[in-house]
Amino acid sequence: VDPHELIRTCRYQTARLVVAEWHGAPLAAGISLADVVATLLTSKTTRALPLSWRGDYDTDRAAAWVRERDKESVVLMVTERRAAAPVGLVILFSASDQDGSDRVDIRLGYLLGESAWGKGLATELVSGLVEWCRSVPRIRSIAGGVGLDNLASARVLVKSGFEPVGSTVDGEQLFELDLSTGSEPMAND
Ligand SMILES: CC(C)(COP(=O)(O)OP(=O)(O)OC[C@H]1O[C@@H](n2cnc3c(N)ncnc32)[C@H](O)[C@@H]1OP(=O)(O)O)[C@@H](O)C(=O)NCCC(=O)NCCS
Repeated sequence: VDPHELIRTCRYQTARLVVAEWHGAPLAAGISLADVVATLLTSKTTRALPLSWRGDYDTDRAAAWVRERDKESVVLMVTERRAAAPVGLVILFSASDQDGSDRVDIRLGYLLGESAWGKGLATELVSGLVEWCRSVPRIRSIAGGVGLDNLASARVLVKSGFEPVGSTVDGEQLFELDLSTGSEPMAND
């Protein structure tokens, strides 16, 4: 299976969240995916994301953003189970061709809407993703770049078992979780 197709099958649940490919996510009547994206992407939630993604979104900008993401990545909708409400997005890229092996390395981006911050949901989200990746033997690693001032995201990744491994070309801190070594995330840290 093509790595992109492999990560498109990513779907999991945690205590409070359901996470699955965004086009299949259940939406309230009369609400489009672009409407949801426009709510989740604000100047505050995009501040730590790539430069061209930053700022506030109306439905048209959100619809264009959805089309761009679909061309290059797999995006998962994060839905809070109890409220059945969309609360965030996970953006996954596959990078598997570097050494000719069929192992898949995943690059991770994610965000939660402002009202979902500070409740441990990001840790639950990323830990659930790690668990799903561990269940797929072809996935070798997950990595994500974090801005040096984004201490909350660095903390989320470390709590989910990632380690700082260097800097990205953009001067961000690169965090990686190597799934080939069988190491477990830090317990209760
Ligand atoms: C980063 C983000 C995902 C965090 O979501 P969250 O649900 O609030 O995160 P959690 O509650 O699971 O955990 C945050 C951790 O960081 C800590 N933290 C939060 N703000 C912090 C700060 N300014 N300095 C240091 N630690 C901080 C929290 O205390 C918590 O750690 P703890 O459980 O040990 O106390 C969310 O703020 C977000 O979507 N931001 C915008 C997009 C973004 O930055 N995405 C990541 C790009 S790499």
